[in-house]
Amino acid sequence: MQETLKNLTATAREEIAAAADEQQIEALRVKYLGKKGELTALLKGMGALSPEERPKMGQLVNEAKSEIDGLIGEKSAELKSAAQNKRLLEETVDITMPAKRSAVGGLHPLNKVLDDMIDLFQSMGFDVVDGPEAETDYYCFEALNVPKDHPARDMQDTFYLGENLVLRTQTSAAQIRVMEKREPPIRIICPGRVYRADEVDATHSPVFHQVEGLVVDKGITLCDLKGCLEQFAQEIYGPETQVRFRPSFFPFTEPSVEVDVTCSECGGKGCRVCKGTGWIEILGAGMVHPNVLRAGGIDPDVYSGFAFGIGLDRLTTTRYKISDIRLLFENDLRFLDQFAGK
Ligand code: DAH
Repeated sequence: MQETLKNLTATAREEIAAAADEQQIEALRVKYLGKKGELTALLKGMGALSPEERPKMGQLVNEAKSEIDGLIGEKSAELKSAAQNKRLLEETVDITMPAKRSAVGGLHPLNKVLDDMIDLFQSMGFDVVDGPEAETDYYCFEALNVPKDHPARDMQDTFYLGENLVLRTQTSAAQIRVMEKREPPIRIICPGRVYRADEVDATHSPVFHQVEGLVVDKGITLCDLKGCLEQFAQEIYGPETQVRFRPSFFPFTEPSVEVDVTCSECGGKGCRVCKGTGWIEILGAGMVHPNVLRAGGIDPDVYSGFAFGIGLDRLTTTRYKISDIRLLFENDLRFLDQFAGK
């Protein structure tokens, strides 16, 4: 019996040392120490021994049992930590690897210029309002002092959606809507898309953008308009920019002006961008016509106001030196990417 125990312990040692994973160790635990295991079988067989032999043999079996138990415990811990090390090694992150660059979008150049304008006008106390692009003939023309048979209708080639519904040709349409809803003092800008049946070329598009401005209060004069627009031009184009007013005609203002700024490209000397004149036209403006104030429910004997309409596209193309207005509408990422983060 002692011999059997010796052999058994020796085989157990070998087998435990050779175990390659947790499962094999578990199988060995069952094989030697389990209820039906080999050592348990030996213990059970001790009944056949003489009473003198029994305690000695019992001690030997117990010693073998605790040795095997210890070996299994050690091996199991060893395998566990080896498995863990292996996993850690496999899951290592190489922090020196270059990171994957994720594409970062950017604002459309039109939106950048618009955001700057909104910031500026808000700092001067203007509210930003919105108006519909499909507009009634009334708000787009009639209420702005352009009756149906007025020759000024020919100034703008209009897309008609119905007899009395148009795609707005100008953000000026917002003026009356605002005056109907608000009491003076009124100070608003209305940015948005406008539409005209123009042929497409490098400087024309049937859809483009304007920012309308309207100020109505007691005692507003042309000087206020000039001061406001000078500040605007110098903030957008730089402090050295000069502004010039030229007399003009718009049905909804009297007097009306067109406003030029010194060319940001050549500083006023004359270049290709300003066609040699040194000036770039950026907007139309004027003192709100009494008929327009009246149409908006405001008494022209008490209040006066100025209005202006800025072409956003031209402002954007000159600021970013974009040679063709169509680029603003094509949404070609190769073009737009150049402005990301600028
Ligand atoms: N609506 C005009 C246009 O599209 C621009 C304009 C001129 C707007 C004078 C105004 C203004 O508010 O007072 O050509």
